[in-house]
Amino acid sequence: MIKYIEESADYLQSKGFENPEIGIILGTGLGQLVDELDIIKSISYNHIPNFPSATVEFHKGKLLYGNLGGKRVVVMQGRFHVYEGYSLQEVTFPVRIMEKLGIHTLLVSNAAGAVNLKFKKGDLMLIDDHINLQGSSPLAFKGVSELGERFTDMSAPYNPELNTKFETIAQENDIPLHKGVYASVVGPQLETRAEYRMLKIIGADAVGMSTVPEIIVANHLGLKTAAVSVLTDECDPDHLAPINIEEIIAMATKAEPHMITLFKELIKTL
Ligand code: HPA
Repeated sequence: MIKYIEESADYLQSKGFENPEIGIILGTGLGQLVDELDIIKSISYNHIPNFPSATVEFHKGKLLYGNLGGKRVVVMQGRFHVYEGYSLQEVTFPVRIMEKLGIHTLLVSNAAGAVNLKFKKGDLMLIDDHINLQGSSPLAFKGVSELGERFTDMSAPYNPELNTKFETIAQENDIPLHKGVYASVVGPQLETRAEYRMLKIIGADAVGMSTVPEIIVANHLGLKTAAVSVLTDECDPDHLAPINIEEIIAMATKAEPHMITLFKELIKTL
């Protein structure tokens, strides 16, 4: 793994990805943050050595380097999911590359279903904690100790100071921002009514198919992390309407301006 990480990072450095400070992973329907970015370099995932190759068509699959809010950032335009057939190590490989390039902070966005029925579709939720329901760990491999502490602490995986900053920015900009627990499932099928009931009982406020592996690896590497979900559907087991992926993407896109403000303003303070 170390050799692969170095190879990919060396390649990106040779292409001008120099000393980024912050890494950003853009989730489904949240790609417009890119319009705010002063792009210096852009490389397709399939040109980066050892990178998993992008599959799902609505993910553009590019790594960008540029300036945002006065900071040097590296941005994943599209992420990898376990439901696409990638291993948890592949899904999180880009986080290891971004850390090797020099980032100290990782910011993540995603689309999620609202399990907490006080939350409505189109709302944003700051992730305060998570429940990993993906059945394994991105740290469950032989060489993990060479890259960081195997028994990674998870007492505060989402940086409390970053979260406080997000909440202040939300208040200052009149952006409603819930705070809650995100549960990650494999997908790609959505949940049954019984599964939504279970998620509520075990303490989840939102459910999605990403983010948790990336956050685990970011903590393994000692990065500061924060993540925001856009809630795209309401997971009410007693009145469950069929949903489709187009609707989810449309809802994510609608909430995009608020998400962009939160990220841009946070980055200015880092
Ligand atoms: N479940 C899982 N993933 C999701 C959902 C959901 O309801 N909405 C958006 N991503």
